[in-house]
Amino acid sequence: MIIAIDGPAASGKSTIAKLISKKLEFEYLDTGALYRGVTYFIYINDLSLNNEDMVVDLIKKTKFSFNNNHLFINGNNVETEIRKNNISKLVSAVASTQYIRTILTEIERKIGHQAKNIIMDGRDIGTVVFPDAEVKIFLTASTRVRASRRYNELLKKNEIHTIEEIERDIIKRDEIDSKRATAPLVKSYDAIEVNTDNLNIEGVVEVILSIINKKIV
Ligand code: CDP
Repeated sequence: MIIAIDGPAASGKSTIAKLISKKLEFEYLDTGALYRGVTYFIYINDLSLNNEDMVVDLIKKTKFSFNNNHLFINGNNVETEIRKNNISKLVSAVASTQYIRTILTEIERKIGHQAKNIIMDGRDIGTVVFPDAEVKIFLTASTRVRASRRYNELLKKNEIHTIEEIERDIIKRDEIDSKRATAPLVKSYDAIEVNTDNLNIEGVVEVILSIINKKIV
């Protein structure tokens, strides 16, 4: 069974998907971490996206793996690095690149097919990667609420930014993600939208679990 959770930046997809995967004993794939990982990799190797052959070649030679929901690149834990705001600012441009999406979509489908039960979160899981997913959730919240949640998250990691800066970044990222030609961020016609403005984490988990239960029965 595949559960797809899509939605805009910082809407809480990863937090919620992780908790639900634990409760249901499903595997979990954070596809945003893959886009962030590729972005980080391009950044530290000072590559240009225009140099398609070189970027594809390097990505294909690189090992991306997860351990305890942390992303590893060639065996190195890059979880902290990929979540930093400088990577958040760059990731949407990388994710708009068709050849990058082709590679990552292929990896995501392979992982999905190999799993018995999996929950995947991203932007295009219910629309492009697994349009036949049994459960599709579209998680939203206002930009202010999302910015303040991300602000607190970064603060805990000693990354200080203003809420206004984070909100601007989120709006920009949503715009690029929604307007790109390939696999844009859009709610699938058969996804159930959950607005989390007035819900805490437990509340969101409860709502989504009840949607999943209704679908299964
Ligand atoms: O956690 P947050 O909402 O900040 O974003 P993320 O899920 O880590 O995804 C980071 C970026 O990767 C997004 O802004 C998209 O540009 C891209 N992405 C995508 O294009 N397709 C996906 N399936 C997942 C992420």
